[in-house]
Amino acid sequence: MKFGQCVILFCMLMCNSCSKRSLFNSVREVFTNDRVYHQDFILQKEYDFIIVGAGSAGCVVANRLSENTKWTVLLLEAGSEENYFTDIPLLAPFQSSTRFNWDFKTEVSNQYCLSLKNKRCNLPRGKAIGGTSVINFLLYSRGSKFDYNQWKESGNHGWGYDDVLPYFKKSENCSHMLNCDSKYRGNTGPLDVQYSPFHTPLVDAFLETGRDMGFKIGDPNGRSIIGFSKVQATMRNGRRCSSAKAYLKPILKRSNLFILSDVRVKKILITSERRAYGVEFVKNNNSCKVEAKKEIILSAGSINTPQLLMLSGIGPQEDLKKLNIPVIQHLKVGYNLQDHISLIYNFLINDTVTISDLGVQNLSHILNYWLNSKGPLTIPGGAEALAFVKTDLNTYLDDVPDLELVLGSGGLNNDFFGSLRKVFNFPNKLFYNVYGPIVLSPAFSISTVLLKPKSRGRVRLKDNNWMSEPLIYLNYFADESDVNVMVEGFKYAKVVGESKRFQKYNSKIYHFTIPACTHLPTLTDNHVACLVRNLATSLGHQVGTCKMGPINDSDAVVDAHLKVYGIRRLRVIDGSIMPHIISGHPNSVIMMIAEKGSDLIKAAWK
Ligand SMILES: Cc1cc2nc3c(=O)[nH]c(=O)nc-3n(C[C@H](O)[C@H](O)[C@H](O)COP(=O)(O)OP(=O)(O)OC[C@H]3O[C@@H](n4cnc5c(N)ncnc54)[C@H](O)[C@@H]3O)c2cc1C
Ligand SMILES: *[C@@H]1O[C@H](CO)[C@@H](O)[C@H](O)[C@H]1NC(C)=O
Ligand SMILES: *[C@@H]1O[C@H](CO)[C@@H](O)[C@H](O)[C@H]1NC(C)=O
Ligand SMILES: *[C@@H]1O[C@H](CO)[C@@H](O)[C@H](O)[C@H]1NC(C)=O
Ligand SMILES: *[C@@H]1O[C@H](CO)[C@@H](O)[C@H](O)[C@H]1NC(C)=O
Ligand SMILES: *[C@@H]1O[C@H](CO)[C@@H](O)[C@H](O)[C@H]1NC(C)=O
Repeated sequence: MKFGQCVILFCMLMCNSCSKRSLFNSVREVFTNDRVYHQDFILQKEYDFIIVGAGSAGCVVANRLSENTKWTVLLLEAGSEENYFTDIPLLAPFQSSTRFNWDFKTEVSNQYCLSLKNKRCNLPRGKAIGGTSVINFLLYSRGSKFDYNQWKESGNHGWGYDDVLPYFKKSENCSHMLNCDSKYRGNTGPLDVQYSPFHTPLVDAFLETGRDMGFKIGDPNGRSIIGFSKVQATMRNGRRCSSAKAYLKPILKRSNLFILSDVRVKKILITSERRAYGVEFVKNNNSCKVEAKKEIILSAGSINTPQLLMLSGIGPQEDLKKLNIPVIQHLKVGYNLQDHISLIYNFLINDTVTISDLGVQNLSHILNYWLNSKGPLTIPGGAEALAFVKTDLNTYLDDVPDLELVLGSGGLNNDFFGSLRKVFNFPNKLFYNVYGPIVLSPAFSISTVLLKPKSRGRVRLKDNNWMSEPLIYLNYFADESDVNVMVEGFKYAKVVGESKRFQKYNSKIYHFTIPACTHLPTLTDNHVACLVRNLATSLGHQVGTCKMGPINDSDAVVDAHLKVYGIRRLRVIDGSIMPHIISGHPNSVIMMIAEKGSDLIKAAWK
């Protein structure tokens, strides 16, 4: 968020409250939140466990390991604490413009993100206690049963759907939701999952359309994924429930858990007998070393975990040698990068039922949020409903979608403050060129998401400096069939968005082109394929860069116990271990991985 916007919003929040008590509490929250995790403690020489990264996974692991009062746990995080603004669900897209984002970009490509700023896709990653769960869009979605059975069939014992379901249940509390089927859903876990208390009438039109098309309207996180549903969100009382809020806040009093924020780990220390024994980190330009009696757990996320492994001599030997990094263990670290790519289509309507980011300035909305935890500010990142469907190109059997549609309560043309443009790296000039004629006209959007991409990318080191950003090659659309599914996705979105249920708003897809695609007739297959290569961008779901696999899989980095091959006492627990990306949004999946990973550690040290 730009400073000026922040001040405006802040003043509005401060000046317009009519309840003194709420004003007081909120002021206190704004100013004291920043201190919650700053425990004063003298760093010891060693701890039983050291966890690197307090993200979606790291917070879970810290909680579960410190349940054993005999173990000391040190949690190291490069970022700082979330605050009042990161809590506001509708402001989710703004968070990528704050200090809570590592702000990675892909390398220039001639295959994807062609019309985006400098031909690079934006890849926000959270830098906060809570990690990317502090800047994400709050959508709770587990993927399909097939996804986990696919992991298991790739040789990962213990990771089939039946094996992982108990850990999904363990992590969540869905008691606030109606129809929360206890066979699949949990109601005693730390992570709150709720529906937004507010929704626009567009949601009803969307769900009715699904029903008309013969789909189930229900819970995609239950028995079966295919169908239409309202968005489920990691939300507590209308506010963001990050992994920090779910897993760390309630246990800050534990005397065996030590949390350091604003520290960057730069290297894992490994003995000549190939045992990880400590880490080197930097705080305020001072380098420190700390040792682990039992294990080191990397939870730095799909970009930073492979970076850290490679900086420490664990990675592809040809690359490491070139960068003068002594090779300790050759492994295909950084390979197998997968992500969900998405493209937004806008539908113009004749009624003001939509919510643009201007909604965050509406006093009645602010008051409603502040006093009642209700209203449009509780829409998770502006996303209101989902559909998991199969295109004609889907060759999977049964309950396996290849396309997701996300209903947005506003169109990209309503991106008044530019937060969505920032998330997508969409150039301002192009924005006005494309949306100039309809800026702020009532519109909603449907985003198409390619759920099972065939293309694979890669993360590499630029040099041997721990401060350098890694090089990220997403290789979207290296496999042409990925473009074709996106083209089918457009057709699907158009049918849904122009269905008879949306005709009460006279809904029409917005016809547009961009300079790179003007030579093709608008919205034909080839034109859409051109738009896809030029404008489609990341949903922020990078996974897979430290692939879990059996010992005879030469691409595997960790085994099914999440232990790094060839090095003792070192595990990876975060999104990077996924062998195949799931057909959903990964936050809840990564928390599940962390719940299961923690149990594996407990079992190993029993
Ligand atoms: C814009 C956006 C929207 C998204 N929306 C959704 C959504 O709606 N639903 C959903 O399910 N998923 C969503 N995601 C994805 C999801 O949030 C992430 O996949 C997930 O949070 C990643 O968890 P993780 O534990 O693997 O890594 P992270 O949560 O990224 O945690 C890694 C942590 O390690 C820290 N770290 C990294 N390197 C170091 C170092 N060297 N030293 C110390 N600390 C370090 C980082 O600062 C970070 O806090 C979204 C992502 C983005 C970017
Ligand atoms: C789960 O959520 C419900 C509803 O908010 C709450 O009453 C209950 O205490 C929560 N359970 C746990 C274990 O936190
Ligand atoms: C840290 O060190 C770098 C280079 O050594 C220097 O440029 C920077 O100003 C220092 N930062 C602080 C906060 O001291
Ligand atoms: C604010 O929201 C209220 C309730 O939805 C609406 O009636 C009003 O017109 C909005 N005000 C502005 C300035 O948009
Ligand atoms: C929008 O268009 C539809 C279909 O033409 C019409 O029934 C409806 O009354 C219009 N709504 C408004 C607010 O003009
Ligand atoms: C690895 O071994 C298993 C069982 O021994 C076998 O089924 C599988 O095909 C092998 N995988 C590879 C990549 O060689």
